[in-house]
Amino acid sequence: MEKLENWRRSHYCGEITGELMGGEVTLMGWVQRRRDHGGLIFVDLRDREGIVQLVFNPEDASGAHKKAHSLRSEFVLAVKGIVSRRPEGTENPQLKTGQVEVKVKEFKILNDSSVPPFMIEDQTDASEELRLKYRYLDLRRASMQKNLILRHRVCMAARDYLSRTGFIEIETPVLTKSTPEGARDFLVPSRLNAGYFYALPQSPQLFKQILMVSGFDRYFQIVRCFRDEDLRADRQPEFTQIDVEMSFVEREDVMGCMEGLMVHVFKEVLGVGLEKFNRMTYDEAVGRFGLDTPDTRFALELKDFTGIAEGSGFKVFSEAAKKGGVVKAINAKGSAGFTRKELDDLTTLAGTYGGKGLAWVKLTDKGWDSPIAKFFTDDEKASIDKTLEAATGDLLLFSADMPAVVNTVLGRIRLDLAEKLKLIPEGVFDFVWVTDFPLLEYDVEGKRHSAVHHPFTAPLDEDLGKFDTTPLEAKSKAYDMVLNGIEIGGGSIRIHRRDVQALMFEKLGISPEEAKKRFGFLLEALSYGTPPHGGIAFGLDRLVAIMAGCESIRDVIAFPKTQKAVCSMSEAPSEVEKSQLDEINIRIKKGK
Ligand code: AMO
Ligand code: AMP
Repeated sequence: MEKLENWRRSHYCGEITGELMGGEVTLMGWVQRRRDHGGLIFVDLRDREGIVQLVFNPEDASGAHKKAHSLRSEFVLAVKGIVSRRPEGTENPQLKTGQVEVKVKEFKILNDSSVPPFMIEDQTDASEELRLKYRYLDLRRASMQKNLILRHRVCMAARDYLSRTGFIEIETPVLTKSTPEGARDFLVPSRLNAGYFYALPQSPQLFKQILMVSGFDRYFQIVRCFRDEDLRADRQPEFTQIDVEMSFVEREDVMGCMEGLMVHVFKEVLGVGLEKFNRMTYDEAVGRFGLDTPDTRFALELKDFTGIAEGSGFKVFSEAAKKGGVVKAINAKGSAGFTRKELDDLTTLAGTYGGKGLAWVKLTDKGWDSPIAKFFTDDEKASIDKTLEAATGDLLLFSADMPAVVNTVLGRIRLDLAEKLKLIPEGVFDFVWVTDFPLLEYDVEGKRHSAVHHPFTAPLDEDLGKFDTTPLEAKSKAYDMVLNGIEIGGGSIRIHRRDVQALMFEKLGISPEEAKKRFGFLLEALSYGTPPHGGIAFGLDRLVAIMAGCESIRDVIAFPKTQKAVCSMSEAPSEVEKSQLDEINIRIKKGK
């Protein structure tokens, strides 16, 4: 191995273009690959900005050429050479540096490398498991570097916009108390306070509200949050929020300011001008799209046939309607050719979301082809066809059950069909604000009300009365920002009146004593002159994943956890020494 000594990089590999023709450059990077061609040796040298071709010619530099025979993938080099035009016909238009090559005069091998378990290439066939175990190698791939650099730029743009518009970045504790965001807490035992635990914050919610009491007026933080919940492609146990809180505002102020944030971030980072932020109430979103995260890049809307179904001869439908349920349907245009297997798969999908079945109708030249055709009169059929704008060749899919089931089932089937039928346009950023969420929902298992957003979210002013009498009907001042069918942010105007907060706890079945124990410090703070306030938090990982065109947020996080919440590289979580457990007064249960 050779020493770096006084060699310093003059350019990144990816910056070597025709403008530098004839000049001498000093490059530092990794060997992507070596090719021996007759007398010449070619090496692709890679750094974070790209790849450039090196040529070792025995006639120009025989020492360097000789040494180049020992080069292997991922060796680390320092190279001095002259930028030259590639011989005609050997240019590579795929590469930014593809018109040139660097004729090596001398070079140093700064380090060698073990044989990597997979090639450092964009199109890798390595499994994600292997990629996560060797994350340092995976992160050498251009696509991963691009994603993390994009993430950095999103943070920079967000900080820039928020700072310019008067927000102050303030850090809040990581060792803290439970925050009511609805997931399980990660607990940290306290050594100095035997038997006591900190909770890692699910969000800085309580602290940011207290900062409003303190008069900071506009706060933000790009902050790590921790939630012990089941993981999915868009959920990690630790993730990052762009967290915001503002004083003396109503919903419109927060939403307007956050639209400005998105416009700035998309313009700065992607050069995309956002034009429109659609608005929809929760009821409309769920009614038309089945989910509170409506993907409005394509139609395939849900239509309600409860009225017709109630009087029909098809028992499954009529009974659902009579029991207070609904019957809804979607029109999978042009899909009458679906096979039995495809229909069965859709029915299975409906089942995973609680649907007891999925009735279908194929529209042929002869009208309805369906096991349920016989139960409907010609008038009923015509009316259904009209509402769904059904034509020959279409496939209609029906779900009958309680509204929550029907909406979820058809909402999910809608997304599945959109993928299958390729209905989702590329390169579109479709923003929808969903507003007027229910304030409370009924938790059947716990037999009590719980807050849909969190217990500090204010009811709509006009629903204050309902909140007391028919609480499930009250709507809240919560808003979610949905991008391409994914919730990228959520927030609300908070309760700042003590009497309303007390009523909230009462409805949630939280006694004054319990409220004091759990959030006493916040409640006390709120009693010392709290300004009206509200805020929002964006899921940075989700936002960046969409901007980068990634399916999973794991691809925009340097060191993510697996589905099992494990870091494959460091192998966390792991066992600890008994002495460490003794210090914190913890004993592991037998059999674990
Ligand atoms: P909420 O719980 O809606 O609101 O979270 C805000 C946003 O954070 C993202 N998010 C996640 N991203 C990755 N992995 C997770 N496990 C995860 N959980 C949430 C989502 C979500 O929209 N304190 C409130 C905000 C407020 O009221 O101001 C809060 O945390 O994109
Ligand atoms: P059955 O009478 O149970 O054989 O059902 C006839 C058709 O109705 C089948 O295609 C079922 O998938 C469908 N079906 C059954 N229950 C429901 C339901 N709750 N909603 C929609 N379709 C259903």
